Amino acid sequence: MALTPELSKQAKWKEIAGIPLAAATVDNWNQIQAFKAKPDDLLICTYPKSGTTWIQEIVDMIEQNGDVEKCQRDTIQHRHPFIEWARPPQPSGVDKANEMPSPRILKTHLSTQLLPPSFWKSNCKFLYVARNAKDCMVSYYHFYRMNQVLPDPGTWDEYFETFISGKVNWGSWFDHVRGWWEIRDRYQTLFLFYEDMKRDPKREIQKVMQFMGKNLDEEVLEKIVQETAFEKMKENPMTNRSTVPKSLLDQSISPFMRKGTVGDWKNHFTVAQNEKFDEIYRQKMKGTSINFCMEL
Ligand code: A3P
Repeated sequence: MALTPELSKQAKWKEIAGIPLAAATVDNWNQIQAFKAKPDDLLICTYPKSGTTWIQEIVDMIEQNGDVEKCQRDTIQHRHPFIEWARPPQPSGVDKANEMPSPRILKTHLSTQLLPPSFWKSNCKFLYVARNAKDCMVSYYHFYRMNQVLPDPGTWDEYFETFISGKVNWGSWFDHVRGWWEIRDRYQTLFLFYEDMKRDPKREIQKVMQFMGKNLDEEVLEKIVQETAFEKMKENPMTNRSTVPKSLLDQSISPFMRKGTVGDWKNHFTVAQNEKFDEIYRQKMKGTSINFCMEL
């Protein structure tokens, strides 16, 4: 059911441990935290706007052995249950995951701090994609503008401060990336970077294939590289969100598949903002070994 603008404005936001989340997610928190992960689950984990849709399509194409028709069976947002998603009376992400036969491929934007504990206990596979903070922030800004359910982000300058303070949906980029980076050696984790996927998609897709325990022919691999290229996915109604009503995602404001590049932050950050951001980044990421590429 499409939400009318009046209804969408009622869709409120609440917090868990200081992290803003959709009110329906918070209202469903007990079910989410009690979720029973299984040892053969693969969880796709990302901070929003880091290439979630892209990695989902790659994973599904690998899972379907490069069969494009099978990947057209549903829109990408319905192929992998989104653990914390809730919009009653529709089935929640947990309900959908519970109905799914194993081996399951699931999705989350939750930080390590908020992840249902059974994922750790079951030693599931985690596939994390990180995107450099500046491009992620720009992408999230345009998403806030076009998403009719999210609060108005205000001007770029206002949003800049909101993002840094972590008061965006799913919380602070810094805490999210740090948390997942820090657990990567203790759990079965494949940690990928959006920028590497842009630079050498074939190499990164091969890593995903190996992580999933698949061995596909070179020809199939090439096909997956082509089918998951930005231009292809932008035209694909199963990945470009064109089936989502305008009352939820208004693509005339900004397309969901917007630019798909590395370094668009340079078109948004002022020199002063860039200096301020770099300083905050140094403080917040102090002591981590993670290294991002800011341009290709
Ligand atoms: P931009 O807004 O910078 O264009 P998510 O799926 O996590 O919401 O991330 C969306 C971002 O990933 C958008 O970034 C989108 O364009 C980009 N994206 C989606 N598919 C892509 C692809 N195949 N190649 C590169 N970028 C892609």
